Order: sequence, then C-alpha cells, then structure tokens
Amino acid sequence: MALALENVSKHFGSLVAIKNLSLTFDVGSVYSIIGPNGAGKSTVVNMIAGSYSVTSGAIRLGASVLNRLPKHRVAQLGIARTYQNLRLFDGMTVLENLEVCFFPQSWLTYLTGARRLGKSERLDICHACLERFGLSDVADTLAGDLPYGRQKILELARAFVTEAPIVLLDEPAAGLNHTETKDMAALIASLKRADRAIILVEHDMDMVMSISDRIDVLNYGELLCSGTPELVRTNEKVQEAYLGTTEELDTIRKLAQGRRAQGGLRSNAGIVRH
Ligand SMILES: Nc1ncnc2c1ncn2[C@@H]1O[C@H](COP(=O)(O)OP(=O)(O)OP(=O)(O)O)[C@@H](O)[C@H]1O
Ligand SMILES: [Mg+2]
Repeated sequence: MALALENVSKHFGSLVAIKNLSLTFDVGSVYSIIGPNGAGKSTVVNMIAGSYSVTSGAIRLGASVLNRLPKHRVAQLGIARTYQNLRLFDGMTVLENLEVCFFPQSWLTYLTGARRLGKSERLDICHACLERFGLSDVADTLAGDLPYGRQKILELARAFVTEAPIVLLDEPAAGLNHTETKDMAALIASLKRADRAIILVEHDMDMVMSISDRIDVLNYGELLCSGTPELVRTNEKVQEAYLGTTEELDTIRKLAQGRRAQGGLRSNAGIVRH
C-alpha cells in the first residue's frame, strides 16, 4: 500500500505552512521528515492523519483520497500515529491505553471486512504488544504514573498495536536522554516490515541517519532535498538550512566573540535552529 501527497499545500490564514509538497511513501521502508523548527513537519503528519484539513492538493492512500476524511476514518483506513506531545489516557492503565485503539473499529476489521475482534482476542493482541515493547510489567499501572521514557514507549506501542500499514511518529525521542534515544532508535528500526511504512519526524540526527531509508528535508514548508542519509548529510542546502550560510555563521561567530570578550556567552548559542 502506498501513501501519496500530491502538490499538497496548507495555509493558516496568510501563513503558508506547506507549499506544493509531493511525496510518496511505500510499505517496506522507514522515512524521516526533518527540518528546522516551524518547517512544517507536524503539519504534514497532521494533514495525513486527518487532524488538519488540506488547503489544496491531494493525499491518497491506495485508491482512497484522505483529504476530507475525519481522523477516525483515516485511522480505519490503516494510518496510525503518535503525537509530538504525549496524548495518553493518564487515568487508564497501560493495557487499557492499548485496548482503546481497537474502538470504534480498527482498520484490521474495517478494511479487510473481517469480523470484529472479541474481548479475549483483543487482550491477546494487546498483551503480545506489551511484551514486544517491554511493557508487560506495567500492564496494570496507570499510564500517568509511568516515568516519561516509558510513556513515550507506550505512545509508540499504541501506534503499532493495530498493525496499521502506515505509521506516523512525531518526535518519538523528544525529551529522552541519550541512552533512551539510542534504545528508541533500535526499537523503531526493529519495527520495520515489508508490509508497513514508518514515517518519522525527528530532530535527533543520529537516529534519523541510522534508521532511515529516505530522508525528506523541509524548510519553510517546501521540500529542500530528498534522498538517502548519505545524500542528505552532504547536501549544502541542508547544511545551510540547519546552520545558516557561511556568511551568517561568520556573523554569528563574530558576535559571539564580541560578547565573550564582554564577559561570557554559552558556546554555540544561537547557531543551530533547533
Ligand atoms: N494550528 C495551527 N494554527 C496556526 N498556525 C499553525 C498551526 N499549526 C502549525 N502552525 C504554523 O505552521 C508552521 C509549521 O508548524 P509545524 O508545527 O508543522 O512545524 P514543525 O516543523 O513541526 O516544527 P517543530 O520542529 O518545532 O515541531 C509554523 O509556522 C506554525 O506556527
Ligand atoms: Mg513539530
């Protein structure tokens, strides 16, 4: 199954958040969307998932056009997601947080026409998922009582529990420490499958570079560059978008030197845009 964005734009009043974006995502690969703060990454995720309407262009999943579908219909067609800010049900247990993903009806039964799963089948799937994500020991713990790192893993598990063919992950490593981020990268890499596309939005470059088959770079709502990690790493336009032009860097460096002479400035402050 393939997901395609065709000439998609998104305006918020006079702000053009996404401009004429065309991208195709096929099952079997891990894709990363990167770019400086405000580049439009979450807007892309929100448009695909049905949280934001599309101003112009088309988003297609197989033969279906998603543009005007509400979130729950998009989910039923096989798109699951995580949010940049955690959206767990804090007052429900870890297990219950997974089980609700099957209501009102998951893509598994909706699209395939299979009969709805019974309670025990649902629980079997959820327990297997908890096992897979290393959360079995906290199945009956309230999600709000988990430490942050495990909440992020639960959020991830929720996106995979229904086995949706398209999974959107918006900053799964945000707020995690170095070790947790490395573990998260390994976990996501291990979830790559021939019948699934993983679309990752992430600022952690080690993670992006190590697990992506293709990286799409956004800058001010436009596609700056798209290709393998190696191609993106060495692309001059990408380096400028993240670090500024050589002239801008020189100016910043001079400013920093001036301020250091005046009595102190954190090293590198203000150079990287995220
Ligand atoms: N609901 C909204 N209403 C108005 N403007 C919005 C809305 N959502 C996003 N924007 C604007 O659209 C632009 C793109 O925002 P978006 O959240 O997609 O960026 P991002 O690349 O995800 O950034 P970050 O790395 O900080 O998460 C920004 O200028 C943002 O202020
Ligand atoms: Mg974002």
